[in-house]
Amino acid sequence: MAPVATNQNRNGETDRVAQLKQQVNPFYSPNADSAVDDTYEHAAYKPYFPVIDWAPLQEIEVTDRGQFADPEKKALFGAANKVQHLTPAIGTEIIGIDLRQLTPAQKDELALLVAERGVVFFRDQELNIHEQLDLGRHFGPLHKHATTPIPKEPGLEEVHVVYNDAARRPDPAAFAKSELWHSDVTYEIQPPSTTSLKVITCPENGGDTLWSSGYALYSSLSPGMQTYLEGLTALHSAVAQADGSRGAGLHVRREPVETVHPVVRVHPVTGWKSVYVNPGFTRRILGVPKAESDTILNFLFQQISSNVDFQVRFRWERNSIAFWDNRIVTHTATFDFWPQRRHALRATPHGERPESVEDYEKRTGKAPKDRQIEIWRQQGIEPLQQKIGASRARGYND
Ligand SMILES: [Fe+2]
Repeated sequence: MAPVATNQNRNGETDRVAQLKQQVNPFYSPNADSAVDDTYEHAAYKPYFPVIDWAPLQEIEVTDRGQFADPEKKALFGAANKVQHLTPAIGTEIIGIDLRQLTPAQKDELALLVAERGVVFFRDQELNIHEQLDLGRHFGPLHKHATTPIPKEPGLEEVHVVYNDAARRPDPAAFAKSELWHSDVTYEIQPPSTTSLKVITCPENGGDTLWSSGYALYSSLSPGMQTYLEGLTALHSAVAQADGSRGAGLHVRREPVETVHPVVRVHPVTGWKSVYVNPGFTRRILGVPKAESDTILNFLFQQISSNVDFQVRFRWERNSIAFWDNRIVTHTATFDFWPQRRHALRATPHGERPESVEDYEKRTGKAPKDRQIEIWRQQGIEPLQQKIGASRARGYND
C-alpha cells in the first residue's frame, strides 16, 4: 500500500503540513466496523486493524524460483491463448490461463517473466485469497505489514487489504501525486519480490494502477551517472508511515525500521541493473552532501513519476490480478473513483536482501547487465550512447 509521508522541520517537530497529512491521510482505509454494509459480498475481507504486536523481522533464507524456469517459458506460454507485451519496457498481459491450475514449472516461469517484464496481468481469475497466498508462498515467505489493514477473517494476517469507498474521500490537499510512487515496504531488510494484487471489487472506471520500470530508468541514464549511482547507498524508512498510522489513531503492530540499500540493485535472476529508490520510502543518499542527495533523489523521483516511456497503466476489472516484481518496479494508484468502492487483496513474498553491483559481481563472478543494451544486442543493434543522442537531435519525439 502507498506510503505516508510526513516532514520534519529543523527542530524535529512535525510541521503543520505533516499534521494535516495525518489528519487527512488518504491511505488508511476505514475500519471494517466503521461502515454499515453487511450485505457487501466481500465484507469478510474489509480492512481490520487488530491491536496485536509482532516481533522485529529477522533475515531469512529465500530461493528465487525464477532461476529454475525454462528461459523460453514454454509451459506457461504454451498453456495461454495469448501473451501480449503492453509496452517495450514493462508490462505483459496473459490471456487464457487459470492461475488455480498452474504447475510448479509454470509458477517458476511466471516468476521469471515478472522479473523480466516488471509486471504481468491476468483477468477473470477465480482463485480465492487462500489460493493467492499459496501461490505467493511459492515465490517466498510472506510478509506481514506492520500498519496497513488485514481482513477480519482469522488466519489472513499475511494479507494486505486495499479498500476505499464513499466513507473515505481523497483530499488533494494532502499529497502531490508524485509523492505516492513507491515500491512496497522497501524499508524492510528483505523487501518484497513477486507480489500479487487481486481486485475483488472495482469501480466502473478509474482506480487504475501505474508501474514504472527501474530497469528502464537505469538504462536511460548516461554511463557516468550509472557508475556514480552504482556506488551509492540510500536510507529507506518506515518511520513516516508508522507516524501517519499513529496519527490516524491506529495501532502499529511492529516498530518501524530504517534500512540502508544500494541505489542500484541487481536482480538475482535476470542479472539486470535497476534503480532502487522511491519517493515513498527513500529518505537520503548516504555519504554525500544533503543538497546533492536531495537533487539526485528528486531527479530520480521525477523520472519515475513523469517519464511515460518507463510506465504501464492497467485498467482493472473485477477478478483481475497483477504480479509485479517489487525489486525492479515502482507503482502508484489513481484515486479518481470516489465515491465508488475499490477493494483489493495483496500477497507479498520477501525477496533477498538487495544486492549492489559490486556484491553481485563478487557473489557470481559475473558482470550485471543493462537490460536495454542486452535487448538491443539481441536485435543486432549496436547500443552506443551517441546514437541515442543523434536520434534525439533529429527529432525523436512526435
Ligand atoms: Fe503498493
